Amino acid sequence: MENSPESMKEIVTRSATLADIETIREFNKELCAKESREFDPTIDPNYPNTQIAEDYFRSRIEQPDSFAAVAEEDGVPVGYLLGALLPPEDYRVVKKLAEGENMYVKEGFRGRGVGGKLTKQFEEWCKEKGVQIIRYIASAGNVDGIKFYRAQGLKEVGIILEKNIEDEQS
Ligand SMILES: CC(C)(COP(=O)(O)OP(=O)(O)OC[C@H]1O[C@@H](n2cnc3c(N)ncnc32)[C@H](O)[C@@H]1OP(=O)(O)O)[C@@H](O)C(=O)NCCC(=O)NCCS
Repeated sequence: MENSPESMKEIVTRSATLADIETIREFNKELCAKESREFDPTIDPNYPNTQIAEDYFRSRIEQPDSFAAVAEEDGVPVGYLLGALLPPEDYRVVKKLAEGENMYVKEGFRGRGVGGKLTKQFEEWCKEKGVQIIRYIASAGNVDGIKFYRAQGLKEVGIILEKNIEDEQS
């Protein structure tokens, strides 16, 4: 009965406040650790503990061109999404873009529509801001994350290629 649909409580999303900074930091720590371990060793698992990260979380909560939302079940946070408007890319005919920069749903709460609710709230915010294109960047190895973004209606429009030349220089 514990995990039966009848016992599952409703999950709601809301705008984040400064009181959510620690929650966002904890989820961001889990996200950075997972990304660093599984997909991209250049991601710093210690980043969420830095002052730069704290300033970033704060700016996304406070700045008018930024978005920060938390998902909760019974008042307990289970996920978050941060995003912001992007500067115009002059070489494109589409001028107003926004990026969903990072999001995380706690293990045990995935596959229940939490991520979908967070991206939908971001999309509604983007519509109010007149955004034409929403972007998410995923690690190439994050197959599940990419499937999730596709399920939200996103399509791949480019790939980022990188080469680590550090070893070649030594
Ligand atoms: C990616 C993530 C945010 C998705 O959140 P979620 O709450 O599990 O997603 P939802 O339940 O809203 O899924 C919505 C739809 O996306 C698709 N989807 C989600 N996870 C999927 C997976 N692992 N494989 C295939 N499709 C998936 C499904 O179509 C799903 O709809 P369905 O449940 O009706 O089949 C979550 O799994 C997560 O936090 N992962 C670890 C961190 C991460 O990868 N973040 C994104 C990159 S920054």
